[in-house]
Amino acid sequence: MVINRKHNIVLIGFMGCGKTSIGKRIAANFEIDFIDTDVEISEYCGKSINRIFEDDGEAYFRKLERNICKYLATVSGKVIATGGGIIKDFSNIENLKINGSVVYLKSHPDKIYRNIKTDNSRPLLNTCGNKFELIKTMLEERKPFYEAYADLVTDVTEMRLEESAWQVGRELRRLGLFYEKNKSY
Ligand code: S3P
Repeated sequence: MVINRKHNIVLIGFMGCGKTSIGKRIAANFEIDFIDTDVEISEYCGKSINRIFEDDGEAYFRKLERNICKYLATVSGKVIATGGGIIKDFSNIENLKINGSVVYLKSHPDKIYRNIKTDNSRPLLNTCGNKFELIKTMLEERKPFYEAYADLVTDVTEMRLEESAWQVGRELRRLGLFYEKNKSY
C-alpha cells in the first residue's frame, strides 16, 4: 500500500481521552509510524513525566515539548500523539500544522475520569483536590483551544478504541486531509 506521506496525523485532546491508544491503532491501520511526544520527552530525560515535573519543573517540561514540536515540523507520514497541554503554547500548534492535520479527540469529563481515576502518572492531576472537579475545570479552560486549533473534531466519548481509530481515518479521508494512494473509498 502506498501512503501519501506528505502529512502527519496529529492528535490533541485532554489527558486520558485516548490519544496514545487511538493513535497506535490509527498508525497500525495506515501502516505508518507512531510517535508520542511524552514518550520522546521521557526517553530524552531518562525519567518519567512525574519525575521531570518534580525534579525540573513544568517550565522545563514545556520547553522540551516546544523543542519536539519544532522537530515534528520536519517529519512526515507519522501519527503523533501529543500531551494534553500542547495547546498551551500556540507555536507548538503552528509547528505541528506545518506538516500535519490536527485532530481533536473530544471526550466527556465522565469518560476521561473513568479512564484515568486510578492512574497517577499525570503530575497536574496528582493534587490532593477532587480529581473529577479538576478534570472538569481544566477541560473547560482548554476546550476552546482544542476546538480552535483542530482541523477535525472527533467525539470519541461513546466509541471503543478500534471504532475511534477507524472514524478518525474515515473523516480525514473524507476531508481530503490524509489518504492512501491507489485505494478508493
Ligand atoms: C499534560 C498532559 C500529559 C503530559 C503532562 C502534562 C497536560 O500528557 O504531557 O503530564 O498538561 O495536560 P497526556 O495528555 O498524554 O496525559
